[in-house]
Amino acid sequence: MGKQVKDYSQYFVAPDLKQAKKRGKEDVQVLQFEQIPENMRSVGKGKKYMIETYGCQMNVHDSETIAGILEEMSYTRTNREEEADIILLNTCAIRENAEDKVFGELGRLKQLKLENPDLILGVCGCMSQEEVVVNRILQSYQHVDLVFGTHNIHRLPVLLQNALFSKEMVIEVWSKEGDVVENMPKVREDGLRAWVNIMYGCDKFCTYCIVPYTRGKERSRRPEDVLNEIRELARKGYQEVTLLGQNVNAYGKDFEDIHYTFAHLMDDVRKIGIPRVRFTTSHPRDFDDHLVEVLAKRGNLVEHIHLPVQSGSSEVLKLMARKYTREQYLELVRKIKEAIPDVVLTTDIIVGFPGETDEQFEETLSLVKEVEYDSAFTFIYSPREGTPAAKMKDDVPMEVKKARLQRLNELQNEISRRKNEALRGKIVEVLVEGESKKNPDVLSGRTRTNKLVNFIGPKHLIGKMVHVRIDEPQTWTLKGVWVDQESRVVGG
Ligand code: 5AD
Ligand code: SF4
Repeated sequence: MGKQVKDYSQYFVAPDLKQAKKRGKEDVQVLQFEQIPENMRSVGKGKKYMIETYGCQMNVHDSETIAGILEEMSYTRTNREEEADIILLNTCAIRENAEDKVFGELGRLKQLKLENPDLILGVCGCMSQEEVVVNRILQSYQHVDLVFGTHNIHRLPVLLQNALFSKEMVIEVWSKEGDVVENMPKVREDGLRAWVNIMYGCDKFCTYCIVPYTRGKERSRRPEDVLNEIRELARKGYQEVTLLGQNVNAYGKDFEDIHYTFAHLMDDVRKIGIPRVRFTTSHPRDFDDHLVEVLAKRGNLVEHIHLPVQSGSSEVLKLMARKYTREQYLELVRKIKEAIPDVVLTTDIIVGFPGETDEQFEETLSLVKEVEYDSAFTFIYSPREGTPAAKMKDDVPMEVKKARLQRLNELQNEISRRKNEALRGKIVEVLVEGESKKNPDVLSGRTRTNKLVNFIGPKHLIGKMVHVRIDEPQTWTLKGVWVDQESRVVGG
């Protein structure tokens, strides 16, 4: 039966490049998360929630916040949908196949909702920021109870209350992109590694990308808030933090009262007693010399940089509005390698951008050969409604795009294999995460450079930093032998 729907037009504005580009920095506010209202604190007693997360680390971390809010409302977590009272899909809009998966899942969950009409089914994350998606849910997925966006997660208690006590589909998606909300509760996935937001949104407007619309304008958290959160994690015994932002190199550009950049932040984080600090994602354009200099101090700043290039052709980069050329990118790579000779570089690459020629694609291959990334995420271009590239003429057949992707992957795999082979016989420091997914007798963990290492060792090593000698390098993982029991060999 069709549900009634509140008029949501006041909350929702479709992605619009012109409007979005006009956005100012003036009205960013730092808000404090408001305590959950007394009458909502025990709403979830005896009830369970389940969150399905799609997409990037930002979403994974948002799910930790959503879980934190729900647990403050007395809900407990489950991974079994039959016993869930709330199911939330935290969605990704970056490519069409990400969206297809979510619609498929929504279709499948309809049956569960029919069997259990009290189930609350919600959609949040990047897809809910798109008007086409909200319209499609309204038309074809009437069994959804709740839709909320990426800017108003802190409103979940109120929205959930509305969804629980009304028969209407509750939709609240803000196009206002301003605020930074502090002190949100969080349930972190493990006690070892933590995500920490340093900024939200993106103002780069790469022509293929939906993120500046779904995640709003760039806004940084205040340094003291970030540093205090990391200090607190260190006190709690976390071994690793990953600083998160769509474009971390733009950190601090929106501060009007202080001059404090990403390099300053990294230099301050370096002084905190947490063993490993990572960050993602960098934009090459804003990656300055000061940052290279700070990263070269190492310590807890690991020697791994994810540096998305997207294409090796300056012409394609121009059409993508990446605001750097092939030569500028290679010059940055040269500087980084000079300052940090054992650095591990990884990247993102899009093939089949509208009109990409064979020659332009060859330039991507030659750049990959020149940089020698340890690994790369590679994608076929996927048009996103509302972005400038979606209107560009594209005469490259899908077959050609697929063939290019395959050639690129073959090349990258060969390089990855070679890079890993160079580690044969070397002793690396591994933060042990747990049992390997495939074999519980095997432990797995990561090197400072984020490579996955599997080895045999006692369970009490989980959560510890150990040394492993690599004796079987593979393309995507490394197998090795735990050598800490021979500690003199590794020098303690
Ligand atoms: N099509 C294909 N890949 C995309 N990415 C972003 N937008 C698109 C798109 N429309 C890729 C970029 C980015 C990564 C997170 O996803 O490579 O760095
Ligand atoms: Fe998208 Fe990254 Fe470009 Fe921002 S910098 S528009 S998130 S690809």
